[in-house]
Amino acid sequence: MTINELKSVIGENSAIVEKKLSEKLDLIKIDTAYPVFSSLEKSMRYSLEAGGKRIRPCLVIEFSKLFGGSLESAIDYACSIEMIHTFSLIHDDMPCMDDDDMRRGKPSNHVLFGEATALLAGDSLLAYAFETLDSPILSDAQNLSAHRLLAHFTGPCGMCAGQQIDLENENKIITFDTLKILHSKKTGALIKCACLLGCIAAGKNFRSDEYISACEYSENIGLAFQIADDILDVVGDEKKLGKKCGSDQKDGKNTSVSLLGIDKAKSFAQELTDKAKKSISKYDGSGFLCALADYIITRDN
Ligand code: IPE
Ligand code: IPE
Ligand code: MG
Ligand code: MG
Ligand code: MG
Repeated sequence: MTINELKSVIGENSAIVEKKLSEKLDLIKIDTAYPVFSSLEKSMRYSLEAGGKRIRPCLVIEFSKLFGGSLESAIDYACSIEMIHTFSLIHDDMPCMDDDDMRRGKPSNHVLFGEATALLAGDSLLAYAFETLDSPILSDAQNLSAHRLLAHFTGPCGMCAGQQIDLENENKIITFDTLKILHSKKTGALIKCACLLGCIAAGKNFRSDEYISACEYSENIGLAFQIADDILDVVGDEKKLGKKCGSDQKDGKNTSVSLLGIDKAKSFAQELTDKAKKSISKYDGSGFLCALADYIITRDN
């Protein structure tokens, strides 16, 4: 698959996810006419509709399709994971965390709406992700598994734990093994969750070979994704990235670049990518997900 073909599939999936996300936000409006609500809804919508690569929803959809499900069965789960991801970005940029004022090519949420509303918009996206998770065309058992996965990979064993490890080690030096734990939780957790939600949407349970392959693929691309993000923070182009470079050094973060240097970080990311591709290449139709693994470490945004 060429890079243009890959980008066109990502673009098609993004368009569908963005339409559905907007419809889901519209539903909140219908539910309440309380005036204070409008600023909260604006703040949620601002970050959710600011763009972004939509990689996590794309993973949900493509894993569903790879294992015999469909786009329709995956779409609600895809929207939920993007809401959780967007909540994590809103909070990540706040002054108490990374203190960054640009995100997705626009002022960060707290810059425009203030810290309190940004905090609440993040909280609301977290809660609303669960409220909108249930798919009407999947079974209760599938939806329950999806709820459990999303809670597990978001909370104190997943993304939030990773963010905590990241923050409490600012201006300290950690080992490479600890960095791998940090990366696998703060970034890997939601990426793994996306792939597993796709498996659930396709009717594959945690004992299936497909689910185990998705675990292997996602753990490797998750780590590689954060390594690429760390490298882009040093050598990326702010205009393409839509966020400021040099943020990690400013905050005294432990990153793959600070611990390994750029060259070793790149070769480690390549190793992870090769492993990821190997774990799914036996499935017919895995071409897109293999190309996506390559794209994750060669992207410029
Ligand atoms: C940025 O994620 C935060 C990390 C986990 C590294 P993305 O690079 O997927 O951000 P968007 O969604 O495209 O804006
Ligand atoms: C953020 O990692 C991970 C989460 C938001 C969970 P970073 O702090 O490196 O992400 P960017 O570089 O600000 O997008
Ligand atoms: Mg951060
Ligand atoms: Mg950050
Ligand atoms: Mg970063």
